Amino acid sequence: MSNQVAFKIREVDGNLDDATTLARLHLALVGYGPVAGLGRGFLARFCYSKLVKEGLMRAAIAEVAGEAAGLVAYTARAATFHHKAIRSYPFSAALSLCLSVITDPRVILGVFKALRLMFARQSDADRLIADPCAEILTFGVLPAYRDREFVRATGLKISERLVQHAVDYFQGIGLTEVQAVVYATNRPTLMFYRMLGASIESFVQAGIQSRLIRLPIAPQSGAVTRP
Ligand SMILES: CC(C)(COP(=O)(O)OP(=O)(O)OC[C@H]1O[C@@H](n2cnc3c(N)ncnc32)[C@H](O)[C@@H]1OP(=O)(O)O)[C@@H](O)C(=O)NCCC(=O)NCCS
Repeated sequence: MSNQVAFKIREVDGNLDDATTLARLHLALVGYGPVAGLGRGFLARFCYSKLVKEGLMRAAIAEVAGEAAGLVAYTARAATFHHKAIRSYPFSAALSLCLSVITDPRVILGVFKALRLMFARQSDADRLIADPCAEILTFGVLPAYRDREFVRATGLKISERLVQHAVDYFQGIGLTEVQAVVYATNRPTLMFYRMLGASIESFVQAGIQSRLIRLPIAPQSGAVTRP
């Protein structure tokens, strides 16, 4: 059972060591995404350090026996998050991006993809939602910590624990639903959210076939509401 192995989910405060770990996990798990295209330096210094320190985004690392096994990044400001992140901290964003480009010039190609996402999110925000609005921005578990053998041996379903971690926070500030945007091709993640009782709606974001996930949060317990 889970007590056979030391496990914890640790909320981070934006320090650079944790931010570097989060950037590594992010690239390993969702390296195909638009933000990942801006490179390790941008992810670490801007997303997982600056934005966490400024309170725009929260993030946590799942640790098994002291090793990083997964991450969750989430915000209660989904409507304005993407826009505000760049508008409020343009110098920090530009500096982090320059450092990324120096390390890996291919990052230049990712800039257009990321800008497209940002503008798409802005028009969504105008049309659809207002803050506070809960969103799981990124989450994932390294394959070694989600294979059947590991789950059977430890009793740990880290993916559920990470989502529950974010849900606990949202429940604590009185939100009743959390959303996530997932590529339509990401079958395992869609299956995962469906299993938790989420509704799933098709839409196109920045030219990419996507799914909008809406997961209810039980108001009393804070637990994810299962069907
Ligand atoms: C999302 C994630 C955490 C889910 O992990 P998990 O809960 O351990 O789930 P699994 O990987 O076991 O898969 C979830 C379900 O999808 C199924 N599945 C796995 N691969 C699949 C595939 N290629 N096609 C269809 N279904 C698949 C599994 O059988 C499982 O269903 P079950 O629970 O009924 O057996 C994990 O897939 C992950 O880390 N993915 C990479 C990061 C990512 O894409 N994050 C989401 C976007 S930010």
